[in-house]
Amino acid sequence: MQVGIVTLFPELFTQFFKTSLMGRATESGVVHIHYEDLRPHGLGKHRSVDDTPYGGGSGMVMRADCVVAAMDAAATALGEDGVPAHRILLTPQGRRFTQVDARRLAEKPKLVLTCGRYEGFDERVRSFVDEELSLGDFVVTGGEVPAMCLLEAVIRLLPGVLGNGDSAREESFSEECGGLLEYPHYTRPVSFRGMDVPEVLRNGDHAKIKRWREEQAHARSAARRPELLVESRGRTKDQS
Ligand SMILES: C[S@@+](CC[C@H](N)C(=O)[O-])C[C@H]1O[C@@H](n2cnc3c(N)ncnc32)[C@H](O)[C@@H]1O
Repeated sequence: MQVGIVTLFPELFTQFFKTSLMGRATESGVVHIHYEDLRPHGLGKHRSVDDTPYGGGSGMVMRADCVVAAMDAAATALGEDGVPAHRILLTPQGRRFTQVDARRLAEKPKLVLTCGRYEGFDERVRSFVDEELSLGDFVVTGGEVPAMCLLEAVIRLLPGVLGNGDSAREESFSEECGGLLEYPHYTRPVSFRGMDVPEVLRNGDHAKIKRWREEQAHARSAARRPELLVESRGRTKDQS
């Protein structure tokens, strides 16, 4: 997968893409990251990419001409082979990013993610992207941390990135877990401050363990995220 990141702060990403799983993904060539620094696309002596808002008000707005030029440059840098890059704008006003999106985006050969700052983007930028995604109903200062989070969710699903492929298959929100939360995990010690590992996990009866885990996943989802059960039932009905 080829990824272009449009940002005023490329240096925020460098350690992230050198470390742990993301380091392995970039070093092995499963993912190639191109940083498109917004600053050279800025205007004037200070290479400004922002300006005051029409209509007044506080804060600065990212200029459409600078941002779109940087997005185009990032897409070109990913190769002019006729395969278009899928363009994503990170904004709190976008659709909420989920594991279903992570799986969908993991199928794309090229992604360009654009990170905002200040008050966000001139409205016209929205016409130049394929989708807007939000990491949740909160506002952070810039799109860089949301971009790292989204990319980690996508890249860990690419073949060859996780050491043990199964750990990505059976986890919360996965198809294998029916889109539900995962069951609880335990490791040693068997007893910790008065809390014991459930007996069923220690008796080696794999059929019983499987059943217990399914029941736990169901109960936990019902208690914490009841809407996941409704969605899961909807998917089962669609498939039948
Ligand atoms: C301070 S925010 C701008 C918020 C904007 N004025 C609003 O009220 O919707 C600056 C940038 O941070 C990023 N950002 C902030 N919160 C985000 C979220 N929940 N998901 C994705 N990106 C976010 C976006 O790129 C955004 O352009």
